[in-house]
Amino acid sequence: MADKLNVLVICGSLRKGSYNASVARALPALAPPELALTPAASFAKFPIYNADDQTATGIPADVKAWCDAIRAADGVIIVSPEYNWSIPGGLKNAIDWASREKDIAFKDKPVVLMSAAPGLLGGGRMQYHLRMALTAIEAQMFGKPEVFVNYAAKKIDEKTGELTDEPTKDMIKQQLAAFVKFVAKTKR
Ligand SMILES: Cc1cc2nc3c(=O)[nH]c(=O)nc-3n(C[C@H](O)[C@H](O)[C@H](O)COP(=O)(O)O)c2cc1C
Repeated sequence: MADKLNVLVICGSLRKGSYNASVARALPALAPPELALTPAASFAKFPIYNADDQTATGIPADVKAWCDAIRAADGVIIVSPEYNWSIPGGLKNAIDWASREKDIAFKDKPVVLMSAAPGLLGGGRMQYHLRMALTAIEAQMFGKPEVFVNYAAKKIDEKTGELTDEPTKDMIKQQLAAFVKFVAKTKR
C-alpha cells in the first residue's frame, strides 16, 4: 500500500466528558486504512491573543509546536462543539495565533469539520463560522458529506463515552472516505 496520509485531529472542547472528544476518539476505528490519525496537542494553555504580547515576546513555543504539527500533517480533522452559535473561544484563539505566523500552517491544508451537540442542529452554525475563519487563512475546506452529531447524549454512552449510534458511524465513515480522495487531489 502507498504511504499513509497523516491526519491531525483537533478537538475544540476542553471538557473531560466531552461529546466531541468522544467522536474524535471513535475516528481511528471508522477511518479508511489510508488514514493515520494523531490527536493534536491541547491549546488549553495558549495565552489569549494580544498583538502587543506577540510584538514583545513573539509567538509562544507551544503555539509554534501546534502549528508545526498542522504543517507536517497531510490534512486536519476538527471536531468541535458550538458555543453561542459559533466557534468556542479557545479554538478560535488557537486559530488566531496560528494566523499570525509568516508561513501560516493552515494555508493550502485540507481540513474537514465535524461537530457534536446535545441539540437538534448538532453544531452546524459553528461549522459555518469555522469554515469562514479557516477560509480566511486559505485552508482547503472539504465540502460534503457533512457530519453533525445532533442529540449527542442519545448517541454517546454516558458511562463509557463511546459513540454507539450506527447511522452516525456510517456518516463519519463516508465523510472520511471522501476526505481521503480530497486530500489526494490537493496533494497532486
Ligand atoms: C458557553 C456555551 C455556549 C453554548 N452554546 C451552544 C450553542 O450555541 N449551540 C449548541 O448546540 N450548544 C451550545 N452549548 C451546549 C454545548 O453543545 C454542550 O455543552 C456540549 O456538550 C459541548 O460540547 P462537548 O460535550 O464536546 O464539550 C453551549 C455550551 C456552552 C458551555
